[in-house]
Amino acid sequence: PITPFNNSVTTSVANLSPEKHIDKSSLDPKLIIFMVGLPARGKSYICQKLRRYLAWIGYKTRIFNVGNKRRVAALNYEQTKVPGTKHDANFFDPSNAEYSSERDLLALETLEELISWLKRGGNVGIHDATNSTKKRRELLIARCKKEPNVITMFVESICTDKDVIERNVSMKLRSPDYIHMDPKQAIADFKARMANYEKAYEPVSEEIEGEDISYIKSINVGRKVTGYNIHGYLCSQCVFYLMNIHIKERTIWLTRHGESVYNLCNRIGGDSPLTEFGRRYSQALARFVQSFHPPDECSDLTRTEYPKDSYGPLSIWTSNLRRSRETAESFDQRFNIKNVRFLNEIYSGIYENMTMEEIQQTNPEDFAARQANKLVYRYPGAGGESYIDVIDRLRPGIIELERMETSVLIVTHNVIMRTLLAYFTGIDLQEMPSLNIPLHTLYCLKPKPYGAELIKYRYNSMTDSFERVE
Ligand code: ADP
Ligand code: F6P
Ligand code: PEP
Repeated sequence: PITPFNNSVTTSVANLSPEKHIDKSSLDPKLIIFMVGLPARGKSYICQKLRRYLAWIGYKTRIFNVGNKRRVAALNYEQTKVPGTKHDANFFDPSNAEYSSERDLLALETLEELISWLKRGGNVGIHDATNSTKKRRELLIARCKKEPNVITMFVESICTDKDVIERNVSMKLRSPDYIHMDPKQAIADFKARMANYEKAYEPVSEEIEGEDISYIKSINVGRKVTGYNIHGYLCSQCVFYLMNIHIKERTIWLTRHGESVYNLCNRIGGDSPLTEFGRRYSQALARFVQSFHPPDECSDLTRTEYPKDSYGPLSIWTSNLRRSRETAESFDQRFNIKNVRFLNEIYSGIYENMTMEEIQQTNPEDFAARQANKLVYRYPGAGGESYIDVIDRLRPGIIELERMETSVLIVTHNVIMRTLLAYFTGIDLQEMPSLNIPLHTLYCLKPKPYGAELIKYRYNSMTDSFERVE
């Protein structure tokens, strides 16, 4: 698969194999994703997740939200001292021609900003709005047709599960539209807004819109996903991703392995065992994580009933390197421990088992090239990797992590931790290689409707226990 990175080795030309000379024109796709759906169907949630995933696999992705534009417009309106708000439920009444065309205008202005950002180098612009009528979508597509080389795709979220909708409606109290309003009044207004949208809603369909359109429909949180006219790597990545995400609560624990023999002498890569200190970390880790996931309750992944406050079933994944496997050895035997290669540390090719000082002395050019751009620098030698290569091999792992509904503990390595945390917290790829991930630190990540909650625990060797850190 092609990702839009210049992923060639930044050092010796002799190390460049032909497949590294990628055609750059195919690396600069321009895609507009138009969200479609009634309010409270998870559209903004889907936008955020898609943005994080596409940015992580290397596409410059940005969300353009029509509601935000409307709020800015309303602010200007209020500054003119005309009483009343522009965005109570009445503003979304489809029978009010003036408001309807004002909303269409806001959607078009938002699209204009999106297009100009694509022209400044963006790859994927996500238009976050309801776009729930055929007329609106025709306006948007007509504008896009003026832009050569821009692909468009609709992503429609349909939800008929009343419980999910009710929960989503209550989340709207956090919306800037309602944050300052009395909660009862806010919910009543939002429900009246939804009812207005329902009067005019027309789902996307090729029969009505024409056979040239492309769309993905996700029905009831990905239970059913359909794709129409899906071409190219980028769009099919979106289908694949949307087929695998869910909204169930679970915990993702992440840690580097315990201290290894190579950590003591600053050697990179290799396959060294844990030190005595590392083994103590392994024991404390098992005790600590098992206090949240007791083995008699959480090791059986087929069990379905749990106490209300339980953290639920736990899977454990390690890399297949010795220091990672040994770190999980103290866990109760009943846990299902998987050793997977995609969690292995970055492979440093001819520099495996060396110290950074040795690399700097023997090949100062390589050392400087890596310092200059750690993200794309690929270690020379067979199998040598860059951070970008690591993302590529972790991609199926991320999809699997998104798909699984149980909690998981991942015992892995420095670069893999940086890469996984960048994905889950949305950190920019450029910043990823310099994230500080110390040994003997445990990250507890809880994906939430808006972002992820991240708690950090550090092992205290004096007390032989974990302490929460900010
Ligand atoms: P919208 O943008 O459609 O108004 P939001 O994205 O603000 O809705 O709604 C957020 C809520 O939607 C979150 O609580 C999330 O759990 C839920 N959600 C996420 N995906 C979906 C989906 N495919 N269908 C329904 N609800 C979803
Ligand atoms: O030093 C431990 C280690 O996991 C090495 O095996 C690996 O090469 C290195 O960290 C990665 O960190 P950086 O990308 O900062 O060199
Ligand atoms: C909005 O204004 O919040 C919005 C989503 O706009 P529209 O329904 O017009 O797309």
